[in-house]
Amino acid sequence: MAIDYIERIPNNVDLGGNKTLQRALEHWQPRFLDWWREMGPSDFLASEPYLRTAISVDRAGWATFGHVKMPDYRWGIFLAEQEPDRCIGFGDEYGKPAWQQVPGELRSTLRRLIVTQGDTEPASVEQQRLLGHTAPSLYDLRNLFQVNVEEGRHLWAMVYLLHAYFGRDGREEAEALLERHSGDADRPRILTTFNERIDDWLSFFMFTFFTDRDGKFQLKSFAESGFDPLARTTRFMLTEEGHHMFVGDSGVARVVRRTLEVMKEVGEEPDKVRAAGAIDLPTIQRYLNFWFSSSLDLFGAESSSNAASYFAAGVKGRPDEAKFGDHLCRDGAMTLDLPDGKGGVAREEIPLRNAMNEAVRNAYVHECAVGARRWNGFVAAAGFAQTLTLPSTRFRRSTGLWTDQPVDPAGNVVSDEAYAAGLPHWLPSDGDRAFIKSLMQRVTEPGKFAAWIAPPDRGVNELPIDYDYVRLN
Ligand SMILES: [Fe+2]
Ligand SMILES: [Fe+2]
Repeated sequence: MAIDYIERIPNNVDLGGNKTLQRALEHWQPRFLDWWREMGPSDFLASEPYLRTAISVDRAGWATFGHVKMPDYRWGIFLAEQEPDRCIGFGDEYGKPAWQQVPGELRSTLRRLIVTQGDTEPASVEQQRLLGHTAPSLYDLRNLFQVNVEEGRHLWAMVYLLHAYFGRDGREEAEALLERHSGDADRPRILTTFNERIDDWLSFFMFTFFTDRDGKFQLKSFAESGFDPLARTTRFMLTEEGHHMFVGDSGVARVVRRTLEVMKEVGEEPDKVRAAGAIDLPTIQRYLNFWFSSSLDLFGAESSSNAASYFAAGVKGRPDEAKFGDHLCRDGAMTLDLPDGKGGVAREEIPLRNAMNEAVRNAYVHECAVGARRWNGFVAAAGFAQTLTLPSTRFRRSTGLWTDQPVDPAGNVVSDEAYAAGLPHWLPSDGDRAFIKSLMQRVTEPGKFAAWIAPPDRGVNELPIDYDYVRLN
């Protein structure tokens, strides 16, 4: 049966006039819905969350709100407005007109980058699929589903590029995006972080703070791309990414604030905080250590010839490229710390183009630190001296120069024995996970919140906190 595209798939890519794209989507869209039913939010197909839907890219249309069943969500295809005469802003092609079609010699590179980005979107939906059963409030449940449907739309955004610009290979890759699954032993998602389990809401908030923020930096790098459709697609995706990071940032802040209330009553002792039903700060720190270190790997190796060639070719730039003075980076260098193989640290200078991953990772770390400072501000204001600290970027790395090195969270190279002994104290233990799991009890009364998390400062879209954000049908 033909789909009424204009009604079902809001878009600004002239879907109605593009028969090839219609045919590709006619095939793919039912498979996407099957995937959503099978791998999306478990058991909430009939529920009606209060969701934001983008129906156009202008101010009035990009955030329309209403209660909607998720399988009926109108996943749309949007590109940010085209900049007339846009030129490539970096690399060897600097100043030349941006490409409206895929240059032949960059075809496989661009396809691989789009597939890798696209793979993360449904992966996170799969990782989060069971969380609805333990939501601490209807407000949080709604935010979870908002993130889920928007990650679904991000998948559509990447599939649009594959269908519209990569022909048959693109259609095959679009199918494969629905066939790999997070954590699947045979066909896992491409990147490790997107195969980690998210079984509890503390992990969800850490993920949306740290991992969605990696997503933001990746999208910002693509937003500079010389391939104009990719740049425009990712620019629009960034408008949605902001909400995901808000969920993480405010989620962790609310956990911390609740913990501080309990600490004021029972003192700082972790066991006492736990006995009072809140999450002690050292446990929050261990979850932070896990998700921060995992997310750092997503930026790739510190020294990367791939990153250099993406930059040279004009495929993937630096976030906010315009703010840099030098867009060619032919002569610059960056000094990196690396293990010297004798338990110490050596330094090495590499060409700036090869250090692009590290430059972007540094900007990311800086932004994460801003969040941590704000959380610590709550702790200090409550009169306590504990702090939440980002571990060193050398800690627990699985990519790059520090892969599998025995480094403590402060960044010191330690003995293998000290590392093995320290790890259970630096990362969530089985006991931590069991405790967190014991707190995860579902709360479904509007305006009520689980005891381990403070209510938010305000509701969604200027509605009250006790609004019925999800109708649980
Ligand atoms: Fe996304
Ligand atoms: Fe996201």
